[in-house]
Amino acid sequence: MTDGEIGAAWSGRTVLVTGGAGAIGSNLVTALASHGARVIVLDDLSASPRWNVPSLPGVLFVEGSILDEVKLKRCFFEKPDAVFHLAAFFANQNSVDHPETDLMVNGMGTLRLLEYATLHPVKRFVYASSGCSIYGSEAPLPLREEFMSMHLTTPYQITKMLGELYGNFFQHHYDVPVVKARFFNSYGPGEVPGQYRNVIPNFVYWAMLGQPLPITGEGTETRDFTFVGDIVNGLLRAGIVEAAIGEEFNLASGREVRIVDLATMVNEAVQSTAGIKFAARRRWDTKKRLLASVDKARDLIGYAPDTEFAEGLAHTIAWFRANWDRIAASAAFGPGQSSAVREVSTVRG
Ligand SMILES: NC(=O)c1ccc[n+]([C@@H]2O[C@H](COP(=O)([O-])OP(=O)(O)OC[C@H]3O[C@@H](n4cnc5c(N)ncnc54)[C@H](O)[C@@H]3O)[C@@H](O)[C@H]2O)c1
Repeated sequence: MTDGEIGAAWSGRTVLVTGGAGAIGSNLVTALASHGARVIVLDDLSASPRWNVPSLPGVLFVEGSILDEVKLKRCFFEKPDAVFHLAAFFANQNSVDHPETDLMVNGMGTLRLLEYATLHPVKRFVYASSGCSIYGSEAPLPLREEFMSMHLTTPYQITKMLGELYGNFFQHHYDVPVVKARFFNSYGPGEVPGQYRNVIPNFVYWAMLGQPLPITGEGTETRDFTFVGDIVNGLLRAGIVEAAIGEEFNLASGREVRIVDLATMVNEAVQSTAGIKFAARRRWDTKKRLLASVDKARDLIGYAPDTEFAEGLAHTIAWFRANWDRIAASAAFGPGQSSAVREVSTVRG
């Protein structure tokens, strides 16, 4: 199916997006609304500012937790045709610091959503899994969907996998049409920097403040950074294409970028001369390289990530410049943690 056909297929549908105020969710909500879908956003704003909820015709914002039955009833009262379950306690370091919250939100929260999607049947339930998480550190590259690891290094990695396993159970037992989309290191407009956020928004933020960029590790580590617009494109397809049901597939760029090269590109793009600085690697951060195969997503749903990294980075920096005041006001760094960074890893997600 062409992008035009996929877009047209969303027109007139009612869609629930949990985590719709988030980095990826806000972009997905905007895309769905632009295609004429009615969108219900369920988000408790625990990790996103209110201004990141797209304020568009056809978008209904329900502020609350996926653990709150009253809010879930409110959302399912709207009879969604499809659910994109993106709300999560994000990400690795956050889960190491707060493992019980991680299990409640990512484990119990996902179970609740699946129960509601069973009681109020939906045509599609797309689960936001994490390819950066679930393959562990020993898988051969490029990462392919059939690989499984029992050696995950954070509670977040475990609960993202748990969500997939619950998805499989609900599909097999209750015929819920579940799709498991495994994202890799998303970046782009809509991601506000913060203590527990990904490396790209934090690097851009610090570079714009004229601070050196902290690299935890050697800098030769790589990640498969994926522009959020490409992930959204994959999600729109995952919610429509019949062949996706019951499947799991990577939504990645299929290309590697070294962290040290990323830092250099960011510094050059914002004309920062503060350089980089090195810090110790995190104990849980055992992945030297991340590179995903996108063959399955391409064959199954026609996924085609076509945003060049430099182009995606330019879009991200343009968004920072256009929204600097509110980004700076919302950047979520912990108490005593100025933007000068105490606790930040090179990569999360
Ligand atoms: N960003 C990445 O690189 C990446 C990579 C792999 C997987 N993922 C997954 O994709 C999804 C979206 O990621 P993101 O980067 O947009 O994250 P995000 O943190 O920006 O968005 C998640 C949203 O969920 C909300 N939320 C948290 N707890 C909630 C609760 N109990 N009830 C309701 N809302 C709640 C937060 O306020 C936030 O707006 C997540 O499930 C994440 O695990 C992201």
